Amino acid sequence: MTTAIAPILRVENLSIGIRLPAGEIRAVDDVSFAIQPGEVLGIVGESGCGKSLTALSLLGLLPAGIQILEGAIIFNNERLDRLPEREFNALRGSELSIIFQEPMTSFNPLLRIGNQIVEALLLHGMTDRRLARERAVEAMGQVGLPMPEDLLRAYPHQLSGGMLQRVMIAMAVICQPKLLIADEPTTALDVTTQAQILRLLRHINQTLGTTILFISHDLGVINQLCDQVLVMYAGRLVERGTVGNVFWHPVHEYTKGLIGSIPNRKSKGQPLANIPGKVPTLDAEKVGCAFAPRCPVAQGRCFSETPQQLALSEFHSVDCFLADPESEMEYVRI
Ligand SMILES: Nc1ncnc2c1ncn2[C@@H]1O[C@H](COP(=O)(O)OP(=O)(O)OP(=O)(O)O)[C@@H](O)[C@H]1O
Ligand SMILES: [Mg+2]
Repeated sequence: MTTAIAPILRVENLSIGIRLPAGEIRAVDDVSFAIQPGEVLGIVGESGCGKSLTALSLLGLLPAGIQILEGAIIFNNERLDRLPEREFNALRGSELSIIFQEPMTSFNPLLRIGNQIVEALLLHGMTDRRLARERAVEAMGQVGLPMPEDLLRAYPHQLSGGMLQRVMIAMAVICQPKLLIADEPTTALDVTTQAQILRLLRHINQTLGTTILFISHDLGVINQLCDQVLVMYAGRLVERGTVGNVFWHPVHEYTKGLIGSIPNRKSKGQPLANIPGKVPTLDAEKVGCAFAPRCPVAQGRCFSETPQQLALSEFHSVDCFLADPESEMEYVRI
């Protein structure tokens, strides 16, 4: 990972707790990572592993009863985890933006698309309604929406899922945020539309220089879009590195399982190779490596001690007792 430039976002030892009647549980546990300006960073992991809670914590949007227990979130040299709500409000939508999986639920069904975009711009300091509308037309054009003037007059239900997701992206980038968080933005879309949205995000990253944190349960999608990837399992990061390293030289057995479950031409028509066993429940006792019960090579120690991050190279690290750093070094030297 490049270290010369200061990262735009640093997350240090972040743990997030959920308050339940039986006590507090850690849904995100000791997560650390950094994003360089202009980078596209992916977080991948199965459902329930803590991806969305991590994303929401960055925006100060954790639901009631869920809070940051430990750690620091530093955005542009500012501690977000200590930011008063009023200041957070000013950052959200301008410096930091998010797009979600279900564009339909993010819009008010009773208001025309144009009014919703214009209101958002007025909230973020624009004072002239006509100028805001012009800016909206321009942003809709930027995300490849045809006839933006007509679309501004439409209601959300009149647009397809792919078009609505484009409108969401237009709204998210209209104030030129420094960091765009995309939480499974293509999961609800068909494969062709998904590919178009991925290309659009890449285009935004390249033309506007927007840094993107992209969340997905699909390593194949991450591979198409991201520069770096974090692999998350049961609230912890288990492997991190450049997409090339992690995708082509996975070391953690969980990452290998995720790659094995990506459909490819060879596996067409065959059942997906998935990872046997289940993700541990949140209240499961946390002893040893959380993946050990599903791991084909786990040994005694894996069930009693928690593995710590082991650097395989400057660009790749893994939390596994059984990883062999030598094998990766050979690859990096080539
Ligand atoms: N509001 C909530 N109340 C109670 N538990 C919650 C709440 N939100 C999330 N959780 C729990 O916290 C854990 C992490 O949830 P999170 O939404 O971050 O997972 P995720 O990785 O985004 O999953 P998915 O791929 O399904 O979106 C899950 O076990 C989830 O059930
Ligand atoms: Mg989620």
